Amino acid sequence: MSDPVFLPEASTIAPRTDAIFFVLLGVSGLIVVLVAGLLALFCWKYRRDRPAPRGPVPAVVSREFEIGWTLATLFAFLLIFLWAAAQNFASLGASPANATDIHVVAKQWMWKVQHPGGQRELNALHLPVNRPVRLIMNSEDVIHSFFVPAFRVKRDVVPGHTEILSFEPTLVGKFQLFCGEFCGTNHSAMIGQIIVMKSGDYARWLAAQPQGDDLAGRGAALFRELGCSGCHGANSSVHAPKLAGIFGKPVPLADGRIAQVNDAFIRDMILKPRKHIVAGFDPIMPSFAGRVDEGDLVALVAYLRSLSTGASL
Ligand code: CUA
Repeated sequence: MSDPVFLPEASTIAPRTDAIFFVLLGVSGLIVVLVAGLLALFCWKYRRDRPAPRGPVPAVVSREFEIGWTLATLFAFLLIFLWAAAQNFASLGASPANATDIHVVAKQWMWKVQHPGGQRELNALHLPVNRPVRLIMNSEDVIHSFFVPAFRVKRDVVPGHTEILSFEPTLVGKFQLFCGEFCGTNHSAMIGQIIVMKSGDYARWLAAQPQGDDLAGRGAALFRELGCSGCHGANSSVHAPKLAGIFGKPVPLADGRIAQVNDAFIRDMILKPRKHIVAGFDPIMPSFAGRVDEGDLVALVAYLRSLSTGASL
């Protein structure tokens, strides 16, 4: 791969990030020129053999002047901060409703990707151009970081957390994926490719993939194998929450809080069921930590989501 000086701006986030970078570069450059220029000017003006006023500092440099100057600088930088935050930071976590959900599992030392239709990839991610995607990311072991310089996106993937990263590719082509967090011996080899395709090519690519068991279907099988259906099934006599239709809904907790049923909430419920007790239910759910791996969790979450969204998966 060649190393261009300027990376392509290959996502909707990229131009915004670059704007911040170049504005900061410009402001810093102006300050450097101003300071260096004044330095040179004073060196010349106050050389030993030149006639120059060398008395006390003129009264214009008053206390008010100092305070004003300090406050002006402070507010200028706060403004830059607010602008940059609004420009970019907020948008990374927010995802449009029509975004495609793609699951990413990071582990030493690879990226495992699963598309909603069950198609799997290793160290590669095929995406359609000009369509928003939402990566739902988990780590199986240590902290990794999903980093695609051409998209200007980077998100740490912390074990025990569900990380959401939204962006929209805008250029067709191949882009480098890095792990951006030192994660052990082969960290530097934990790389991959993002392949952004035209919508039609992407559909053909998806169709050509080996017919993996679709994610929700595998989740449904696990749901029975692990015994979840024994309590949560329609015919169960155990007083356990019924799970159809709950995804994306608020749920009241025993301590008075309201939780949102999302990927992270369901993961917590499976791995750490004591973390949130749902109002009206006894805390009898056993933890499945150690019995399910990240792949199983992704499938279970997809299954529960499919119970709430009809058959979109
Ligand atoms: Cu994974 Cu560095």
